[in-house]
Amino acid sequence: MYLGLDLGTSGVKALLIGGNQEIIASANAPLEVMRPHAGWSEQDPADWIAATQAAMDQLKRSHPEELAAVRGIGLSGQMHGATLLDAADKPLRPSILWNDTRSHAEAAALDADPIFRDLTGNIVFPGFTAPKLVWVKANEPEHFAATAKVLLPKDYLRLWLTGEHVSEMSDAAGTAWLDVASRRWSPELLAATDLDESHMPDLVEGTEVSGRLRREIASRWGMADSVVVAGGAGDNAASACGAGTVAPGSAFVSLGTSGVLFAANESYLPNPASAVHTFCHALPTTWHQMGVILSATDSLNWLAGICGRKPAELTAELGDTLRTPGSATFLPYLSGERTPHNDAAIRGGFAGLSHRSDRPALTQAVMEGVAFAFRDNLEALKSAGTELARATAIGGGSRSTYWLKAIATALNLPIDIPAEGDFGAAFGAARLGLIAAEKADPLSVCTPPAIAATIEPDAELGPAFEAAYQRYTRLYPALRGATT
Ligand code: XUL
Repeated sequence: MYLGLDLGTSGVKALLIGGNQEIIASANAPLEVMRPHAGWSEQDPADWIAATQAAMDQLKRSHPEELAAVRGIGLSGQMHGATLLDAADKPLRPSILWNDTRSHAEAAALDADPIFRDLTGNIVFPGFTAPKLVWVKANEPEHFAATAKVLLPKDYLRLWLTGEHVSEMSDAAGTAWLDVASRRWSPELLAATDLDESHMPDLVEGTEVSGRLRREIASRWGMADSVVVAGGAGDNAASACGAGTVAPGSAFVSLGTSGVLFAANESYLPNPASAVHTFCHALPTTWHQMGVILSATDSLNWLAGICGRKPAELTAELGDTLRTPGSATFLPYLSGERTPHNDAAIRGGFAGLSHRSDRPALTQAVMEGVAFAFRDNLEALKSAGTELARATAIGGGSRSTYWLKAIATALNLPIDIPAEGDFGAAFGAARLGLIAAEKADPLSVCTPPAIAATIEPDAELGPAFEAAYQRYTRLYPALRGATT
């Protein structure tokens, strides 16, 4: 048995798999986000531990024998969060999360120093970890002075599980302190934010052992205290391990709160100018690229909210047959955009509305707008040297056939739909736990799922989608000029 623990933004998921990677059970416990000021997004690390305990208590009640047979645990988690610990490992303040934009000015200032893009291969985005520490130094100097370690969210969970300060390459790559090509902390980047390597955890690969479960926790969960905890991965790299997106050229499109177009690469292929993220993958000597759009299913949820309907009710009004794009165009920048614009200030918009723009027309425009944002990401990946032949659909929004047809046609790529199952970050984390515990070959564990169906691009509607995409790309510069 192997356990995956995914520390998400909205909850902790614990997933148990067997020796043949069959799913045995899972449990969830919710988490709240605190937003004490505009642009702030924080969580109390104590809540992560309480949620993990709650999820594990559920598993202990329902599957005690299986828990007793666990040999390896893998961790996955929301990326980029800054958890500041004092010399006694006590959190100094709530953790500042990935979607907290208070340090946008500090991010721009670091990004203006060419050393950051040179060594990290990425723009210093406002959500990344390093600019948060610059903000803390300026605004909470007593906390900065007392900081002994900075940990990413899942690595704080690891500290509690094992007593070790350890991170792994895929999550560390999102801090802006990692030399992403050589997979080591950069003393120069740390010095640029008045920190040094003593403030950082040790680094392992996602497939390696990072420590062993502390006796006290093992006995509460009814596990052996020899259980190993693998390095694990940031949630996107962990999802890629779950969905089998590890071989070079393989890709997934994730329709979650945010949207991700993720490609695995055998070498380090940075192109910060395109606002593509280039991070280490969870498997040794592999990297990945991804484009991130901040509001994917969130855009449809927003429309559903103001229409007083559920998202599924809106998509049901469209049916499953792909429609020709109408005059209405939607830009999904409800909370700014990362790829390709790196623009925290931009906001979304509808254009081209007419008297005929009824609710289904707006739903169609929202789904197309998200599909075109993915197309922007595809173009960004192309400019970073990655050509895709197909992509696997994951995430809650991928239950909409209409949406997948729009995405396949906007991207002109076949989209594969996995057969029933759970291929998310917790499953990927459990796979990493298996690899670390059994010293298994990563590629033979992280295999792609069986494909239930493939959605081909609609050849007939291709030209109309292309014309609508061209309209969409002309709107961002106009909107930026007019509203910010
Ligand atoms: C990736 C990112 C998000 C978080 C959310 O760069 O910011 O995907 O990891 O979980």
